[in-house]
Amino acid sequence: MTADSTGEERTYRIATLPGDGIGNEVVPAAIDVLDALGGLHGIRFDWRVRDWGCDYFLRTGRMMPEDALEQMAADDAIFLGAVGAPGVPDHESLWGMLIPIRREFDQYVNLRPARLLAGVPTPLAGISPADMDMAVIRENVEGEYSRIGGRLYAGTPHELVVQESVFTRRGIERVMNYAFELAARRRGDVTSATKSNGIVYTMPFWDEIFAERAAAHPQATTQQYHIDALVAMFVLDPKRFDVVVASNLFGDILTDLGAAVAGSIGIAPSANINPEREHPSMFEPVHGSAPDIAGQGIANPVGQIWSGAMMLEHLGEADAAARLMRAVEDTLGAGIKTRDLGGTANTAEVASAVIERLRATH
Ligand code: NAI
Ligand code: MG
Repeated sequence: MTADSTGEERTYRIATLPGDGIGNEVVPAAIDVLDALGGLHGIRFDWRVRDWGCDYFLRTGRMMPEDALEQMAADDAIFLGAVGAPGVPDHESLWGMLIPIRREFDQYVNLRPARLLAGVPTPLAGISPADMDMAVIRENVEGEYSRIGGRLYAGTPHELVVQESVFTRRGIERVMNYAFELAARRRGDVTSATKSNGIVYTMPFWDEIFAERAAAHPQATTQQYHIDALVAMFVLDPKRFDVVVASNLFGDILTDLGAAVAGSIGIAPSANINPEREHPSMFEPVHGSAPDIAGQGIANPVGQIWSGAMMLEHLGEADAAARLMRAVEDTLGAGIKTRDLGGTANTAEVASAVIERLRATH
């Protein structure tokens, strides 16, 4: 961030990675919205757009250049659309771009709000926006997603496979601390997802550290559920949850469920955060590149725009973020929405409607 001498205008350098498919439609739409908002709040964005992704892979054999992380290291944040295209195996696109960014920049918190916005239908019966406002935190760099293990005696009757989970005290403590600190700015409750009845080493360790972190944050209330009961409760009674913290695998499942119950994959945002700010954090919608609708201009830009609001919050621009979310909710509430939400508007129409409402409000 740089400020002018009066401190009135702030400029943020944003590594901008539209990626593939509808990423190239929703990122430009979100940029228009954020530029308009910035104009109202003394914020200037320096969008450093990169053409990395599957086309780049087909040209060069890599998803991004060898020095990609160095190129982005001094930026204030990363704004990503989606990666993945037919013709490039998904493990290439994931392990060639998203995973290296998350791990090398130590973005160990994956934060996904599951909040029901006004004007968005939920598949759950009898649930209104007041009943669903959760923040799900997934541990993003260790846990069940390790590359430790192996396969022996392949193709014989003795074939065996081992896959290790890795849980470190430091890794668990830091993600739980983040959850408690976030809860202190919300309703003050933290739920831990566990499975210590079935998984007898790692999950009791997880529970032990949760109890310690709870004791260190006595102002918070806490709940703890086994993951099987927790997923049922997400559907039956989402209003009992505020902040939910989970391991990599459990969090992966919970966050997709959270996006589904909050209405549509097209609106769900996410943040990959390095809380110490030693590296840039990355903001991206939950959805993928949607090759089935790419190129038609009909993708829902709300997931990308909401991810932009999360980026603003991370940059310390909470007022601008709140104003943006009010404009998004007013737009959806007025029935201006894309087809995935049952509307008829296209990507550009939703973005223009949000900009109009930004200019009309404070
Ligand atoms: P997807 O999220 O791209 O699409 C699933 C369904 O939701 C499709 O019917 C799509 O049209 C719809 N959809 C998604 N976003 C939408 C939006 N903004 N507006 C309206 N409708 C929307 O998931 P899928 O089809 O499993 O994956 C497609 C590609 O995206 C694959 O290559 C996959 O690996 C990649 N992917 C990338 C992710 C990322 O970049 N973080 C996350 C998920 C998938
Ligand atoms: Mg997932």
